[in-house]
Amino acid sequence: MKYTLVIPAAGKGKRMGAGINKLLIPMQSAPVIIHTLRAFENDSNCAEIILVISEDEYETFSDLLAKYDIKKDVVFVNGGSERQDSVYNGICHAQHEYVLVHDGARPFVTEGVTQRVLDAAVEYGASICAVPVKDTIKRIVDGVVEETVERSALWAVQTPQGFHLPLLKKAHQIAREAGYNGTDDASLVEYIKHKVTVVEGSYYNIKVTTPDDLVVAEAFLRTNR
Ligand code: CTP
Ligand code: MG
Repeated sequence: MKYTLVIPAAGKGKRMGAGINKLLIPMQSAPVIIHTLRAFENDSNCAEIILVISEDEYETFSDLLAKYDIKKDVVFVNGGSERQDSVYNGICHAQHEYVLVHDGARPFVTEGVTQRVLDAAVEYGASICAVPVKDTIKRIVDGVVEETVERSALWAVQTPQGFHLPLLKKAHQIAREAGYNGTDDASLVEYIKHKVTVVEGSYYNIKVTTPDDLVVAEAFLRTNR
């Protein structure tokens, strides 16, 4: 099944603290966003790529796509103030019946994960990939433990997340009207009470968020993960 890939890339990278959009930081010679785009380069189902970016970074990104010889066509769309706004702008331009939303900051996604997410989206309408959390998670308020959460039910959720486009559009529109802000797209679909199917993600599919993630990412690249 052909799909539109929407990549939100219009963040500021505040937690990285590099003073630039973290997607522009080089890792083993190529910027983060180039590694992310390359992860979809050989996927023949990936029929359209929408890269959602800040207006003032159009030139930077278009120079990078040319410099690193990205073969697939990439459409640029303006980002918004929150990730959710950026994704909404992106999906408004999507041409295919199924859409995968994938963070620009996750350069290590594999075709296997992408295929599982796509298959589940086609079968169930909405899908995410996730891995079981490894740490013990506690709810802490004002520096004091309130609760230890039962770990066996906890999963760390990743992207890509896959959707039947009309469902995702509806979920975004309802969330916007209600002023509901979610940190991922599936939460908007959950908000309208549609089931979200979970498939196996990968511990390598990290989101480059803080400086320590760059160290891990460099190690993955060195060892061909
Ligand atoms: N993103 C976006 N538009 C925004 C905010 C985020 O397109 N207004 C994108 C980021 O570029 C990133 C993805 O959403 O690829 C996941 O967001 P996150 O990891 O939080 O990146 P940033 O928002 O850039 O980082 P931070 O929250 O530390 O500022
Ligand atoms: Mg953010």
